[in-house]
Amino acid sequence: MSLIAPPLSLYIHMPWCVKKCPYCDFNSHGLRHEPPPYADYIDHLLADLDADRADFGDALSGRPIVSIFFGGGTPSLFAPELIARLLDGVRERLPLHDEVEITLETNPGTVEHGRFDGYLAAGVNRLSFGIQSFDDDKLNRLGRIHSASEAESAVKSAQDAGYANINLDLMYALPRQTLDGALNDIERALVLDPAHISHYQLTLEPNTAFAANPPPLPDHDHAWAMQEACEQRLASAGYAQYEISAYAIADRRCVHNLNYWRFGDYLGIGAGAHGKLSDARTGRVRRRWKTRHPRAYLAAHGQPERIGGDDTVGPAELPFEYMLNALRLIDGVPLGDFSDRTGLPRETIATTLEVARQHGWLYENDGRLQTTALGQRFLNDVVASFLA
Ligand SMILES: C[S@@+](CC[C@H](N)C(=O)[O-])C[C@H]1O[C@@H](n2cnc3c(N)ncnc32)[C@H](O)[C@@H]1O
Ligand code: SF4
Repeated sequence: MSLIAPPLSLYIHMPWCVKKCPYCDFNSHGLRHEPPPYADYIDHLLADLDADRADFGDALSGRPIVSIFFGGGTPSLFAPELIARLLDGVRERLPLHDEVEITLETNPGTVEHGRFDGYLAAGVNRLSFGIQSFDDDKLNRLGRIHSASEAESAVKSAQDAGYANINLDLMYALPRQTLDGALNDIERALVLDPAHISHYQLTLEPNTAFAANPPPLPDHDHAWAMQEACEQRLASAGYAQYEISAYAIADRRCVHNLNYWRFGDYLGIGAGAHGKLSDARTGRVRRRWKTRHPRAYLAAHGQPERIGGDDTVGPAELPFEYMLNALRLIDGVPLGDFSDRTGLPRETIATTLEVARQHGWLYENDGRLQTTALGQRFLNDVVASFLA
């Protein structure tokens, strides 16, 4: 049984935000008096990429990058000229697929009109807007720096600049939100005609301001009712759910996230960025993550200290790691993918699959392994059953 190298993506982490939101546990840091060293950070990212290329060597050779994702933090704090310099540097170092998807996460409170032309010219062909809600009272409670109308004008400006591939991030189960409130957010999003909508349930994450001082959130049953009603409304408008939180019109599924969910490979550069790489020659799957705090990452300047950790995923962990994301996909995954991506024979998971089938969590359909509606609802239990 041998591992086959999957598609390769590139994740680039931009760690600054105008202001830290009280619910967010991403590696993001609010601005202080001094502006962050934006231009220096671009040089450090390219040095980081050079060092990864040297370390991973043959495992990368001849593999085109299918997607690039600028995540944050708030990548739209970086001027288009800096994004262009970085993307030119990436093109000099790695072959890009002809139809590479290049996404930039955008906070609507950070983009004055005109920036979008620059991002488009730099090669960014997909934008993801952190909208969260179209209700100003909810935006206020979430500590957001933009209003609903500012969000709408930012999306329209991007469309005027020529962007057709746009994602809107929305959250539901917000403090004191009703079912009608959640549905109203979907209606306002649909008016903007995006290609893709990410619909996340607000969760209380440890070490956030909301965890320390929790707001009154809808209970589990109300949150589930919101998810079901919004899913139906999105389906009726032509947005098919393809992952627990992701909806898209035809042909606009996110290439980058699909590659994560299908246990594809990705390089990760920038503060706290994670990467995963399969080496078909050695049959090993490696994970590497970068030093998390931007100050420490910058101080490392492309040297070994930029690495926060490095690990080989052992055979005992591979089934869980594979299922963790694959089972989130509504269409499931081809049955053969498990062995191709992990290098393990199907028999490794035969007993666990049979138990999951008996629970009514999983089924096989047309050569694919899929999660039932019950399995989706209890996904954490289903995935945990694949732990060694
Ligand atoms: C890195 S942020 C997106 C870009 C930008 N930083 C912004 O917020 O506008 C990624 C998305 O994760 C979601 N998110 C962050 N914290 C969350 C939480 N605690 N629960 C659910 N979704 C969350 C939000 O929808 C957010 O837009
Ligand atoms: S702007 Fe986005 S990344 Fe930054 S703190 Fe808020 S949710 Fe987190």
